[in-house]
Formats: sequence, structure tokens, C-alpha cells
Amino acid sequence: MNRTPYATASTIPTEAIPAEAAPADALGTSAARTRSAELEKLVREDPGRFRVLTGDRPTGRLHLGHYFGTLHNRVRLQDLGVEMTVLIADYQVLTDRDVADQLPRHVEDLTLDYLAAGIDPARATVFPHSAVPALNQLLLPFLSLVSVAELNRNPTVKDEIAHSRQSAVSGLMFTYPVHQAADILFCKANLVPVGQDQLPHLEVTRTVARRFNDRYGRGTAVFPEPEALLSSAPLLLGTDGTKMSKSRGNAIALAAGVDETARLIKGARTDSDRHITYDPAGRPEVSSLVLLAALCEDRDPRQVADEIGTAGAGALKKRVTEAVNERLAPIRARRAAYERDRGYVRQVLREGAARANAMADATLDEVRRAMNGYS
Ligand code: TRP
Repeated sequence: MNRTPYATASTIPTEAIPAEAAPADALGTSAARTRSAELEKLVREDPGRFRVLTGDRPTGRLHLGHYFGTLHNRVRLQDLGVEMTVLIADYQVLTDRDVADQLPRHVEDLTLDYLAAGIDPARATVFPHSAVPALNQLLLPFLSLVSVAELNRNPTVKDEIAHSRQSAVSGLMFTYPVHQAADILFCKANLVPVGQDQLPHLEVTRTVARRFNDRYGRGTAVFPEPEALLSSAPLLLGTDGTKMSKSRGNAIALAAGVDETARLIKGARTDSDRHITYDPAGRPEVSSLVLLAALCEDRDPRQVADEIGTAGAGALKKRVTEAVNERLAPIRARRAAYERDRGYVRQVLREGAARANAMADATLDEVRRAMNGYS
């Protein structure tokens, strides 16, 4: 069970995970879920055994869905004492959108959100992958280890091509799961917290590691075969009842102000039944608001719903607004302080990149020695 100061899988009933999630085993999800529960236990018993690598595409400000879905979990892992590397995938974001001119800003904004949420640069390495040449050079030997047919089959890539905002599919789109293997293996991470859409990519990473070891390792493993740590957090819906996403205009940003938050929640979709219940399948919009209050208050959503009872959607929204604003207050205060000190944010990135470069240089040396007998 998750023992964290706030609500996670231990207090949220599993029906909170909406039905729109992929069919149970399309991506090997149920096996990964079982294994993740074991890994959770191992992490708590012996955090020093784990090197965690996580990452995000810098697409702008993070929202509450990110916070409860991933950020909060990273801070928890960091605080448990695992070695933590947080990668900003500033090349990968170019796979499906033309944002090159906004990247420096987005990288900094993402870093601000990390710092505000509690990622501690003294313990975690935060850096953009474009700043680490040796990491990127790993892409070449790794590409030689996968077939075009394998690249073509990746269901997450197929899905992203279907929803791409670019008119043509770039070569980077097809190869980015292999680049992601370089993201993970450059620091020899053995644990990768991800959502289930990332499981195919983690399989690519494991395949690359295995094939590299088999082909060049001479009996020793150069790379670990990293495992997925599936998030047990329930998915928060946006204010319109669909998946929370900035591009849908239904998200509450971590950096949103108190009034903006109140306005967004006031406009959230509900239904006409004044009796508030927690029933994610039957009443997704109302239930997501209940869940949001529960996550912010570290409570069971059914209890929150019971407390509101027949007071109606207005009372529910008032409760959610207060809960969100209270929970985010310290995060927002930190974010505002860092925002006034962008020089510090850039320094965090420079120091993160220096540490990442040292790790990547050492790994690339090892790779060249394994492949060529010299480095
Ligand atoms: N593909 C991830 C996403 O779209 C981002 C990412 C890039 C990543 N490199 C990674 C995630 C390495 C985990 C590990 O969100």
C-alpha cells in the first residue's frame, strides 16, 4: 500500500480509474500493475537499490492532472531516498508539434513547476536532453539494435501520428522510442515511473538493453533492463468531464491564481442531481470534482461526497475551490518566488546538465569500449 501524506491508491477506490483507460491487457498492463505493486514494496524497503529516471515533454505549464498523476509521486520517491533523474524531453516534444521557438521558455517553466512541487535539485538531477551530447550519441548504436518493423508496430507512436499537429510524420517520430531508451539507459536507470501509454517504449528500452548486452557485453551486463513503475493515481478529468489537458482548455494549471481557479471550477460541468455521490462510471463530471477535493484534502472521495450530501453542485464547487486553493497555496508561493529568480532556475538546469553530462560521458565510454575494444 502506498503510504504517502496524501490520497493515492490506498484511499481511492479503483473504480476511480475511468473506463476510457486502455483495455486491461492491450499493453501488458495487468502484468505491469502486479509487478509495480511488488516494486513499490521493494522501493520502500531498500530505496538505495533504485535509480529512477522520469521525464516530461516541455509543452507549457503543468496542471493538476500532472501534479496528482506524476509530480507528487516523484517527490515522494525522491523523499524516500531513491536516486532521481528528471529529464526534460525537449527534442521529443518536436515529434508532433512545431514549438522550437518556444522551447527555452517551456523548459524553464517546466523546471519552475518541478521546483515548486518539491523536486529538490540538491538530490535530483534535472536537465533537458538536448544539453547532453553523449546521451544523444547513444541513439546511433541503439538504432542498430531495432528493426524498422518493430518501430512501425509501436502502438503509442501510431496513436501520436494519428493525433499529430504536424502535416508530415518526421523521422524523429518513428525513432523517438529508441531515443527514449537512450534517455533511460544513459544513467543506467532501473526504475521508470510511467503511465500505461509509455509501456511500449519501456519494452523498446528493455529490448535495446538486452540486445546490447548480448551482442557486446561479453558475459557482463553493460545496461540494466529497467522496469516500469505504473502510477496508481486515479486519472483526474478536466472541467468539461474529458481528460484534463491544456490543449482542451479544461485544465487547472498549478500556477493558476486563486480567482482563476475559482472561475474554472465554477464553470465545470456537473449534472442536475443535487445529491452528490461518488460514482465515476455513472457520473464522471461530478465524481471528478469530488475526487479533486478528496485528493487535495487527503480524504476518501466517498466520504467527501457523503459530507456534501444533498447540498448540490454549488456546494461541491465551493468545497473543491477551497481545497485546491489551500493545497496549492505553498506550491504557488514557491513558484512565484522562483519565477522572480529565473537566473536560479537556469542555474539549476546548468548544474543538472553538468551532472547528466558526466554520467552520459562515462556510459558512452563504456559503450565504445564494449563495441570497439577501445574508447
Ligand atoms: N515520452 C514521455 C512522454 O511523452 C516523455 C519522456 C521522454 C520520458 N523520455 C522519457 C518518460 C524517459 C520516461 C522516461 O510523456
